[in-house]
Amino acid sequence: MFQGASNFAKGVDSAFFFIFAISIFFLVGLTIVMIWFMVHYNRKRHPKAEQIKDNMKLEVTWTVIPLIIVMLMFYYGYAVFKPMRQVPDDAMVVKVTGRMWNWSFEYANGKISNELVLPVGKAVKLNLFSPDVIHSLYIPAFRIKEDMVPGKDNYMWFIPNIEGTYEILCAEYCGLRHSFMEAKTRIVTEEEFQKWFAEETPIVPEDKGLAILQNNACTSCHSLDGSKLVGPTFKGLFGSERLVMENGVEKTVTADSTYIKRAILEPDKEIVKGFAPGMMRAYDKVITEDDIKAIVAYFESQSKLPN
Ligand code: CUA
Repeated sequence: MFQGASNFAKGVDSAFFFIFAISIFFLVGLTIVMIWFMVHYNRKRHPKAEQIKDNMKLEVTWTVIPLIIVMLMFYYGYAVFKPMRQVPDDAMVVKVTGRMWNWSFEYANGKISNELVLPVGKAVKLNLFSPDVIHSLYIPAFRIKEDMVPGKDNYMWFIPNIEGTYEILCAEYCGLRHSFMEAKTRIVTEEEFQKWFAEETPIVPEDKGLAILQNNACTSCHSLDGSKLVGPTFKGLFGSERLVMENGVEKTVTADSTYIKRAILEPDKEIVKGFAPGMMRAYDKVITEDDIKAIVAYFESQSKLPN
């Protein structure tokens, strides 16, 4: 018997196929009737048009039957949707942040991961959070999708039924790299999960700056390897001469700690030539003074490496 990858998969599929079957029935039925009308009432057979009015029986029929059909569709949809909003008390809570443009998953013990690891057969509640624009957490295999609106609390819950790795996508157009906003959810046994859960995420002190850059999705737009993405690469940044535009005027600045700080807090002030303004939000409420120090230290350490 088909079980589905989550506790909701079966219900969503039956609601979908119910509506799909009705749609197919009407698509085929209406097409046949239309063709029959075209043949039967064509101008050669009926040169003179005739007005038909007031057929009570017919009017009642074409009102009542569609009403019953749409109410059935509504019932099916609602019956499947309602339990999606009723979270069981024992659900494990994970905070999900969707930002331009990556996902991160924060567990009760403070562990932060770019992959959603969950134990099979256990209820999980995802608290959804966006710091910038509207995203939508979509796990197609689980048949669940929920919008994440900045400033508004939202959540979803489910029970993963089958071990395996499934795709997580963003289903709300959120800017240039929307299509790259993906992650994986890995459903494992309880033992494997407990082992993973207890493992420390390794952060070596020198890499703290890099960890901050990655956790804030900076590296989704600024590559580390020199390739050009939405923003300029981080490679060779520290101490380099930058040609920037400020209020339409070109000037050259040195990428020192002051420049890097400015670029994080007021990204639109100076735009590196060849890149578009308005692509990056100001990170003044997200990245602290200490974070900036760590980021600068990271860039500085990179500049000392041999090429
Ligand atoms: Cu986030 Cu599309």
